[in-house]
Parts: sequence; C-alpha cells; structure tokens
Amino acid sequence: MRKTIVAGNWKMNGTSESIKALLENITGGAINIDGLVTLVCPPAVYLSQVVAQTADAPVSVGAQNVSAQPKGAYTGEWSLEMLQDLGCEYVILGHSERRSIFGESDAIVAEKVAAVLEAELVPVLCVGETLEQREAGNALAVVSSQIDVVLQQVGIEGFASTVIAYEPVWAIGTGLTATPEDAQAVHAAIRSQLAKHDANIAENLSILYGGSMNAANAAELLAQQDIDGGLIGGASLKADEFLTICAAAAESRK
Ligand code: PGA
Repeated sequence: MRKTIVAGNWKMNGTSESIKALLENITGGAINIDGLVTLVCPPAVYLSQVVAQTADAPVSVGAQNVSAQPKGAYTGEWSLEMLQDLGCEYVILGHSERRSIFGESDAIVAEKVAAVLEAELVPVLCVGETLEQREAGNALAVVSSQIDVVLQQVGIEGFASTVIAYEPVWAIGTGLTATPEDAQAVHAAIRSQLAKHDANIAENLSILYGGSMNAANAAELLAQQDIDGGLIGGASLKADEFLTICAAAAESRK
C-alpha cells in the first residue's frame, strides 16, 4: 500500500531553541493514522536533538544528505553508520541545491542511493528540471534520465524502498508552483517509467511533489492521483502551515 509522506526539508535553518519550539508545535498536532508519514529533516547538527524530541510522537526523522563512504578522511562529511547510530530513518538525496551548488552529479546521487539502501535507510531521491529545460520541452526527458541513472545502479528492486520527490527547480523557494495537472503529468510519467520494470513496485512507490507547496495549494496538489505527499521547504518552518499540509495529506487518503 502506497504511503503518503509529508516531509519538511528545513535546509540550513534554525537554532536549538527555534527547533525545539517548532517541534513542540509539530509533535503536538501530528496526525497518527495508518499510511501517513510525517517526516522532518533538520540540519545534521540537530539530528540527535530532533530524534530525542520526536521519540514519543508519530514523527519520523531524516537527514538532508549523507556521504556514500563508510568512514575515514572525508572532512565535513557524515556517514550512514552515524545516521543509523542516531536513529535517523530517511535521507534526502540529490536535492537540486546539492546538485547545483555542491556539484553532485547523477552518478554521485546514484551511488548515495545505493549506499542508503544498503544501510536500510530510506532514500528520498529528488529529481526535477530547470526552467530552461521545461521551456525547451525537455522536462520529462530530464526527470526520466535522472531516474534511469539510479535504476542502473540499484535496479528496480531498489525502488521498493525508495521515495521519489519531483521538484521542478524553478518552483523551489520561488513561490511558483507547478499546476496540479503539470505536476500530475510528471508523477504519472515517473510511475509508468518504473512500471515498465515492475508494475507492483511502481504502484506502491510514494512520489512526493516539492516546490513551493504550502497550506494554500497543498490540498489541490495532493488530490492528484499520483501525488503521494510533499517535500516542503519554506512552509515546513511554520508549524501551523506544515500541520495544515499534513491535514490535507490525511484527507487525501480518504
Ligand atoms: P520550497 O522548497 O518548499 O521552499 O520551495 C522545497 C524543497 O527545496 O525541498
């Protein structure tokens, strides 16, 4: 059965004080129903604080990145063993900011997905096209090739435990959102790309939408057949907005 996942990507925001307050509100209002996952992804330095504070709440915790290397001389990095040690369940990978600012190629992202699966955490694999690519009519081709590289690395079986987030780059942090129909078209294309390899895995895969999802537009996006949740940046830093999106996600499962 496909899960609906509402994931907050806090990016490089917060202090221990502000995160404590934000989480008090989120855990206080979190919805506990079957098949709905509420996920928060804080900056890595606050992961243990967040894991401790969510211990008794229906809220899961993810990292925003991880090294594919097991250990050693990689200054500034952290490993999957460390994330396991902290009790972290999910890892966002291949976010467009990692790709464009930190130079993560499709090959690096695929290697990280493989490492996360190997460690039995859940990768949240981000894909999406730039504005230029969309305007040139290449959105579907770009997304499909980003997924293909991962497919070649981990096989279709890897997608049985992977979450995909479709995040059009032009919609991230800009206030621009894909229309529900445009987002649905890409989500359906992703599912059918994977269904060619295994219909059952494709059917059970959660495909999240990301890119300026907020309290006002979430219900309409989540009502689409192939949109199974959201990866939310800006709006996830406000508990009331985030909880409104969670409520819309719960509603979309009815
Ligand atoms: P946004 O960010 O909701 O602020 O557009 C989404 C993301 O980058 O995951």
